[in-house]
Amino acid sequence: MSTQAVEPHNDANRVKIFDTTLRDGEQSPGITLNTREKLEIAHQLRRLGVDIIEAGFPITSPGDFEAVRAISQEVPDVVIAALARANEKDVTIAGEAVRESAQGRIHTFIATSDIHLEYKLRMTRDRVLEAAANAVRLARTIVDDVEFSCEDATRSDPAYVAEVVGAAIAEGATTINLPDTVGYTMPNEFQRFLLEIYERCPELRNVTLSLHCHNDLGLAVANSLAGIEVGARQIEGCVNGIGERAGNASVEEIAMILRTRAADLGGLWCGIETTEITRASRLVSRLTGYAIQPNKAIVGRNAFAHEAGIHQHGVLSNPLTYEIMDAQSVGLAHNEIVLGKHSGRHALDHALQELGYELDRDELNAAFARFKDIADLKGRLSGVDLEALVNDELRVESGSSFLLDSLSVATRTDAAPEATVVVADPDGAHHTGSGTGDGPVNALMHAIDDAIGSSGVLLEYQVSAVTGGTDALGEARVVCEIGGRSYAGQGVSTDVLEATAVAYLRAIDASRRAGHGERVMAGGV
Ligand code: KIV
Ligand code: ZN
Repeated sequence: MSTQAVEPHNDANRVKIFDTTLRDGEQSPGITLNTREKLEIAHQLRRLGVDIIEAGFPITSPGDFEAVRAISQEVPDVVIAALARANEKDVTIAGEAVRESAQGRIHTFIATSDIHLEYKLRMTRDRVLEAAANAVRLARTIVDDVEFSCEDATRSDPAYVAEVVGAAIAEGATTINLPDTVGYTMPNEFQRFLLEIYERCPELRNVTLSLHCHNDLGLAVANSLAGIEVGARQIEGCVNGIGERAGNASVEEIAMILRTRAADLGGLWCGIETTEITRASRLVSRLTGYAIQPNKAIVGRNAFAHEAGIHQHGVLSNPLTYEIMDAQSVGLAHNEIVLGKHSGRHALDHALQELGYELDRDELNAAFARFKDIADLKGRLSGVDLEALVNDELRVESGSSFLLDSLSVATRTDAAPEATVVVADPDGAHHTGSGTGDGPVNALMHAIDDAIGSSGVLLEYQVSAVTGGTDALGEARVVCEIGGRSYAGQGVSTDVLEATAVAYLRAIDASRRAGHGERVMAGGV
C-alpha cells in the first residue's frame, strides 16, 4: 500500500468525467432506450456526479433528438452534450437539441486516419481539415462549449492530427478529444502520441484534452489513465463499460482507481460520488438489458465476495488482507429499508426519497399500486427490491409501448406447454393470443407473437433474483433477433414468466423504435 500522502484537490488536477452511456453506450448491439429510460439514467448520472452527459446523437433519429432535448430541459447542473458529424445539418440539429440546457455542448467529430479518409469518407486531408474548421466555427455561433474529436486519432498521422487540432482550436473548440476509436493503442504508445501532439500543437495546452478509449484489447481504462498522466483532463466512458463492440472505458473503474490510488497519482482526482456507483450500474444494466459479468471490476456481483476459506479468514481478521476498497465506498452497503404489505403511500414515498428518487404524484401513485401488488404476494420488500420496482415503473412510456395485460401458462410433464396472453398495444387496444412450444418460454413467445403479429427468435435468455431468497423478485433478460437485428429487453416481477413476457415485449418495443426514423452510423460526414 502507498505510504504517500494524498495531495489536496486542486482545479488543475481535476479530471472531468464525460459520460457517454446514453450515446456510445446506446450504440451497443441490441440497446435502444426510450426517452423515459434515458431520462432516468441521466438523473442517476447527475447523482453520480459526472461532469458531462453525452445525451445522444440527435441527427440519427427523431427519438434521439427528443431524448437529448428532454434531458437538456430536465437535468440541471451538468453539461449536456450532443454529438454531431462535422457538417452543417448535424451541428445545427445538435445545437437545437441542447438549446434548453443551461450548459449545452456540441460535440462534433470527423475521422483523421487515412484508412477512414479513403474508405469511409472518401475525402482528402484538405477537405477534412476544412470540414472540421467549418463545423467548429458554426458550433461556436450556437454554444460557447464546443468539443471536437479526431475519430480514429490513434491510427492517424500525428502531424496531420496536430494540424486539424490546431484548426479546431483556432475556430474556438474548448475541448479536444483524441479517441482510440478501435481500441488499438497501448498505454506507453498512447502517451508518446499525446506528447507529440502537445509538442506539435502547443495551443492544445490552452484547452481541455479529452480521451475516449475503446476496449477492444481490454486496455480502455489503462490507456485513459496513461493519458491523464501526461496532461489530459477529461475521460470519456460509460457505466459498466458498455459501448460499441467491446465497449468504452468503464466510468466506475476510472473513478475507483482515482480514489483508491490517489496517493500515487500526483493529485489527480474526479468529482464522482462513488457511493452512487452500484445504483448507477444496476440501473444501466436493467434498462439496457445488458447483464454485468459476475467478475467485473467494481460492480460485478463477486467483486467484493471472498470464496476461499483462507481469504475469508484473512478478511475477518483484517479487511485489508484482501480488500483494497470497501464495499460501502461503491454503495454496496446493506441498506436497512424494508417495507411490508401494510406500509402506506407515505412510507413508500419516504423510503424512495431515502433511495434518492423524487417522484411526482402520478409516478408515486403508479409505484404505489405496483408496490401493493408485489407486497401482497411477497410480504416484504427491501431497498433493492424497491429500486427494481421503481426503475421498472418509471421506464414505461405510455402511448408507445406494448403492455402485458395478463397471461396464463400451463405446463405438464406429458404434454406441450400452452400459453395465452392479452397484450395492450400502444393505442390501448387489447389483443389475445395463444401458442404452444417446446417449453413454457417458447409457448409464451408464440402466444405474444400470435397476439400482436411479432416474430422474434430468442438468442439469449437469463433469469436471476433481484435479491437473495426464494421469495425474491425475478428479473428476466432476453436478447431476441427481430427483423434481422438483435434487441435486448428486461422485466421484473414476482413471477419469472411474467418478467419474461415483459422483457420480450420490451425487446419488441426497442425494435419498433429502431425502425422509426433514419438511423445513421457514427461515421461519414
Ligand atoms: O469512438 C469514437 O471515436 C467516437 C467518436 C464519435 C468520439 O465515439
Ligand atoms: Zn466511441
